Amino acid sequence: MNRRQFLASVSATAILPKPTFGAQDRLRLKAEAVTRQILPEGDGATAMLGFNKSMPGPELRVRRGERVTIDVENGLDEGTAVHWHGIRLENQMDGVPMLTQELINPSETKTYSFVPPDEGTFWYHSHYISYEQVARGMMGPLIVEDDAPPDVDHDITVLMSDWQMGEDGSLTEEFSDMHSVAHGGYMGNFARAFLSQDQVQTGDRVRLRLINAATNRIFPVAVSGVSGAVVALDGMALSEPRPLAELVLAPAQRVDLIVDVVGSVGFDMMTRQGPYRLADLAVSGTNTNRQAGPIMALSPPQLPIPAEPSQHLTLTMMGGAMGRRHNGDNIWAFNNASDLQADPFGSFQNGETVRVTFVNDTSFPHGIHLHGHHFYEVDKKGAVGDLRDTTLVNADESRDIICVFDNPGRWLLHCHMLSHAVGGMRTWVNVA
Ligand code: C2O
Ligand code: CU
Repeated sequence: MNRRQFLASVSATAILPKPTFGAQDRLRLKAEAVTRQILPEGDGATAMLGFNKSMPGPELRVRRGERVTIDVENGLDEGTAVHWHGIRLENQMDGVPMLTQELINPSETKTYSFVPPDEGTFWYHSHYISYEQVARGMMGPLIVEDDAPPDVDHDITVLMSDWQMGEDGSLTEEFSDMHSVAHGGYMGNFARAFLSQDQVQTGDRVRLRLINAATNRIFPVAVSGVSGAVVALDGMALSEPRPLAELVLAPAQRVDLIVDVVGSVGFDMMTRQGPYRLADLAVSGTNTNRQAGPIMALSPPQLPIPAEPSQHLTLTMMGGAMGRRHNGDNIWAFNNASDLQADPFGSFQNGETVRVTFVNDTSFPHGIHLHGHHFYEVDKKGAVGDLRDTTLVNADESRDIICVFDNPGRWLLHCHMLSHAVGGMRTWVNVA
């Protein structure tokens, strides 16, 4: 990552569209072409894809345990499908063409309906030619509100992404360029974060919900002007808040923070050449009412307790530039096969606990995402660690996970570097 490869960053705040609340009401998302001022004011505007005339799409705020109904209308001139990333929902609502649904054709509407079982920070995005539709902007935040929200003054979503753009603001159309597919994937030369609110006061206690919506970029992020703690990963509360240090978000990963504002607040992507500003959060005035006590954990997630694993599978990532040869017929492979095969990588009984070793035998990091479930990362000491729906495995490393497969259906397991996914790094599991 070379800072000089980037266009100048912005310091004005880009604001997310106002949230849309899901309780009772039926939500509606219309996929359509939009024009957005992504580059600094005065530079060219960008023709993109989005939802409800905006990019990112509107923040959907829904309640745990209450049914959400979302009509997705396709206003594009190609098919689409929408995936509700990280929500442990019914298989037929998962939004994966070929595996769980037919494409939503142009001018058609599909109704998605599900009951979110977990509170937390999630997001939605296109799951059809996603390496291109998401890169063009088809994504937005999906927040499942807490039954008992933490004591904070503001709850702010920080959605980050990057785009490959000319100085005139036009997107370069090289979404599936083979060279980038075989390397780190389509990567932007401009990055920024969109905030759901642009102002706070000194002394405020704020919840920040960071979402990496980029197609391929891993964001190392530093938040300045705050002191606080990490309270959730991929939507799931940590049992103990963790000290805030530099954060690393693989594509699709989320991190929730609770922080106290102590100075001017900035979000920086850390690069070898120094920080690159993603967004500023303006600070004006002082909150004199806030008593800054200790930061408490969020309510614990309600997931099944893993049993002794009844299967131990290995998924080896293969291929790409500088990678070993494999027998798959695409650039990347899992266990010597590229793309979706007729047989699943794993077949599980409903409720079965399984251990999987992800082996990265390639020269690139991969963020592996399992649909329909969260899983525990096994930490370096062999202990059951964080709950995740996407785990980052660096080159030549491996990671074990433990998952209770308790959601029946056919679920994708793929690299969330979307260029790698289209390059073959996709498989599926079956839970019967
Ligand atoms: Cu964000 Cu296949 O998923
Ligand atoms: Cu990958």
